[in-house]
Amino acid sequence: MKTYKIAILGATGAVGQEMLNILIERNFPKDSIRLLASARSAGKEIKRNDYTFIVEETTEDSFHDLDILLCAAENNIAEKFIPIAVKQGVFVVDNSSAYRLDPNVPLVIPEVNKDAIKDHHGIVANPNCATIIALCAVNSLYQLSRIKNMCVSTYQAVSGAGVNGIKELNEQIFSLAHNKEFTPHTFQRQIAYNLIPQIGGFNEEGFSSEEVKMLNEGRKILNDPEFQAVCTCVRVPVYRSHSESIRLEFEHPVSLKDAYNALNNAEGVLLMDDTTKEIYPTPLDTTNQDLIYVGRLRKDPFNDNILHLWCCGDQIRKGAATNAIQIMEAWINQQ
Ligand code: A2P
Repeated sequence: MKTYKIAILGATGAVGQEMLNILIERNFPKDSIRLLASARSAGKEIKRNDYTFIVEETTEDSFHDLDILLCAAENNIAEKFIPIAVKQGVFVVDNSSAYRLDPNVPLVIPEVNKDAIKDHHGIVANPNCATIIALCAVNSLYQLSRIKNMCVSTYQAVSGAGVNGIKELNEQIFSLAHNKEFTPHTFQRQIAYNLIPQIGGFNEEGFSSEEVKMLNEGRKILNDPEFQAVCTCVRVPVYRSHSESIRLEFEHPVSLKDAYNALNNAEGVLLMDDTTKEIYPTPLDTTNQDLIYVGRLRKDPFNDNILHLWCCGDQIRKGAATNAIQIMEAWINQQ
């Protein structure tokens, strides 16, 4: 079996750490795994099972002799280092948003558009976490009838803001319990016992950058330039699973029976829906695993072409690290 030399850039972050967990969990055919981060983390030891990894500072010389780079760092770091890696023939899966809308870079959710990977020129981009979770949930329904319009309200975990987001929620809960003052840094307001209807900056029309991603990325992934997605993205004090309330307007009426059937057979989806027994997914149900859970499926009372649903998924895993590793595995299988 062929083995690979792989590195994770941003290996000390929330997504980078999970990428390492998943590589080990899935027994990835590794020749070597290297962990890259900033100079601040150089020399840090990270232990997993019987392995001890030493974090290296990322430099322009970090990439020769690599086969695969998983990038879990911010846009500016991705833009600085990925072109150097690609020039040296490294296959890169990038979790930042830097290359997602570049026409030369496939944007892939393997359950939806795995074949697009073949068109890569060195980089495949991992979509935004809320987009991955929504499109995994609705893809099998899109196959029943084209979705013209999708209206989404998100309830997004603090892990979406990286390790600093998780730290800030913990610190605020502790400060409030001990009557201590605190100033929000990562989020715009207090996040503990609150929610914040802002993720990213706002554009002139009043949409946040997170809300615009679902529209642009959805069109590219579904290969449907007319696809309409309108979102309200909200940060909530949940650690690591996003939830989304989704209204879908189809081109043709879709029966509940067909929708249940499609969701039951959908790759990467677990249908958890029986309101007679109060069965529906919550973010905690989906923590630390890779499926997108779907429930609360309803027909719109006023329009036969509309269905409503609720879904939850682990933001760090399927929303980021697992999806990136599935892209890498699909690329390996295409070799
Ligand atoms: P470090 O821990 O050394 O700062 P998160 O999104 O969870 O905050 O993680 C961000 C990741 O990006 C971390 O691993 C972080 O490493 C890494 N990173 C930040 N700045 C740089 C840099 N200049 N070079 C390489 N990696 C960086």
